[in-house]
Amino acid sequence: MTKTVQDYIRTIPDFPHEGIMFRDVTTLFADPRGFRMAIDQLLHPYAGVRFDKVVGLEARGFILGGAVAHQLSAGFVPVRKKGKLPGKTISQKYSLEYGEAEVELHDDAIQPGERVLIVDDLLATGGTAEAGIKLVEQLGGEIIGCAFIVDLPELGGRARLEAMGFDIHVLCQYD
Ligand code: PRP
Ligand code: ADE
Repeated sequence: MTKTVQDYIRTIPDFPHEGIMFRDVTTLFADPRGFRMAIDQLLHPYAGVRFDKVVGLEARGFILGGAVAHQLSAGFVPVRKKGKLPGKTISQKYSLEYGEAEVELHDDAIQPGERVLIVDDLLATGGTAEAGIKLVEQLGGEIIGCAFIVDLPELGGRARLEAMGFDIHVLCQYD
């Protein structure tokens, strides 16, 4: 039987903390068929849609975002954890399923009116994606879509971002 994207994802219990079922996409990325399938499916709803920039969320969003940007002939822009970007940045604090964090974006990475696709491996509470969205919007970028491999619906991220009016595309879900 043909494998789905979800079939390539490994689950590691109790990482990085007890009680977390960590959905590990490195096994998907490592498989030539799996990785191609994931990139093709991430792109699927955007056939014929123009994007200026793909914004990838650290860290696994960089791997996906680079491949997606290449296919869309768009630029790639990283949203990074605090203290990693060398130029002048804007920043946003947010909370996670397991902790607190802060992300940054170079203040010249997005021009006003640019059309942006947000990409990451996984949507849990939606805190990371919302922080990335806020940074892009602060620079005047227009969020056209947000694409993820995995959705964890119990954590409410998708519902939260859809309630804010964003278009969310996910490839698979875990209850
Ligand atoms: C994971 C995942 C998303 C985020 C999703 O990253 O890759 O970026 O959590 O969670 P949320 O929807 O609750 O915000 P993590 O923070 O573990 O960082 P890493 O990719 O740098 O390991
Ligand atoms: N980020 C937040 N929750 C996660 C989970 N359960 N698996 C992988 N990445 C995550």
